[in-house]
Amino acid sequence: MAKLQWGMIGGGEGSQIGPAHRLGAGLDGAFDFAAGALDHRPDVGRDYGQRLGLASDRAYGDWREMLEGEQVREDRIDLVTVATPNATHYEITKAFLEAGFNVLCEKPMTMTVEEGEDIVRTSERTGAICAVNYGYSGYSLVRHMKAMIARGDLGKIRLVKAEFAHGHHADAEDADNPRVRWRYDPAQAGVSAQFADCGIHALHMASFVTGQEVHRLSADTVSCIASRVLEDDAMVNFRMEDGAVGRLWTSSVAIGRQHGLTLQVFGETGGLRWSQEHPNQLYYMPLNGRLQTIERGEANLSPEADRTTRVTIGHAEGMPLAFANIYSDLAEAIRARKENHAMDPAADHYPRAQDGLRSMAAVFAVAESGSKDGTWVDARPPMYR
Ligand code: NAI
Repeated sequence: MAKLQWGMIGGGEGSQIGPAHRLGAGLDGAFDFAAGALDHRPDVGRDYGQRLGLASDRAYGDWREMLEGEQVREDRIDLVTVATPNATHYEITKAFLEAGFNVLCEKPMTMTVEEGEDIVRTSERTGAICAVNYGYSGYSLVRHMKAMIARGDLGKIRLVKAEFAHGHHADAEDADNPRVRWRYDPAQAGVSAQFADCGIHALHMASFVTGQEVHRLSADTVSCIASRVLEDDAMVNFRMEDGAVGRLWTSSVAIGRQHGLTLQVFGETGGLRWSQEHPNQLYYMPLNGRLQTIERGEANLSPEADRTTRVTIGHAEGMPLAFANIYSDLAEAIRARKENHAMDPAADHYPRAQDGLRSMAAVFAVAESGSKDGTWVDARPPMYR
């Protein structure tokens, strides 16, 4: 079977997220890294691309050059990842979708709800796949949580508690450092800082595992460091479409917390608890039963968990392998289209443009509610109301 061709925009040398994408896309041998415009400085991007093994004519200086170059090739890329800063996502993703390329866009997918709706419509109109990298939904035990909830192990879901709280912007002395300051500047970051950066991961996870979309929310947003315009901490209460109650805390001033993504789901007949820093264990307690530790890789888990585990039980798997699971879902989806067969249902879990759009609507709802003392507001994008 011929390998799929993969390209990347952004993710240059020294970037935070570029290496995890390259590890993830390369892991299963489904994709060949074939093209890239990796840096905002054309020469630096070309040079780095070639050092990573790209052919000189496919190590592009910028994304427009890459779009032109790839469009006319017989062996054009099957998937492009957009891993540039947030404000560029919409323009690049839209241009590639219009030309019929499948896209995996980093989060947040866009800067506004209108742009998000446009991306969803463009993907639907062109038939090109538009995925969004909520990469933590790729963890094997997160897939298992979703499968357990879908088959009724927890009964009706009562309560979801999601957190994404770290302490990496807690130093008031460092708040004016330009590398930190832009994140809290509305001119560069938009209407939200911490919720748009991290909170949307936690909110997406709540929807992903429960299968319920967020309907309305009330937010308490604060800037613990007084010079910040946008929030560095938020507590968001939400309600989901099938009645589940949601609580979400996100913070960048929680000293001592590192990555800090955790998810707890409580139903009428059981509870589940998972934490991204210890992703190989899932804690489950059935009503009136005993607390159990489910280990990634153990026997008799769901097909979704089996498909997304790579090394045997007891050996740690981590974040690049979660990203690899998003890529393997996408490889399956792209092959199914190319070869005209149904896709493996256990692979049909990659986050979509629709999820990216719902996140944008939630970002604007949090900003609105936060500015109105926690008033409850509709969290859905207009096109889904
Ligand atoms: P970064 O600032 O570390 O790296 C950005 C890279 O993009 C740099 O190599 C830069 O030269 C390149 N770049 C900038 N503009 C470009 C352009 N117009 N064309 C080509 N290359 C360009 O940023 P970081 O932290 O890697 O974040 C990138 C994106 O990934 C952001 O949208 C961020 O929200 C997202 N992200 C997602 C994570 C996840 O878990 N899904 C985790 C961390 C970041």
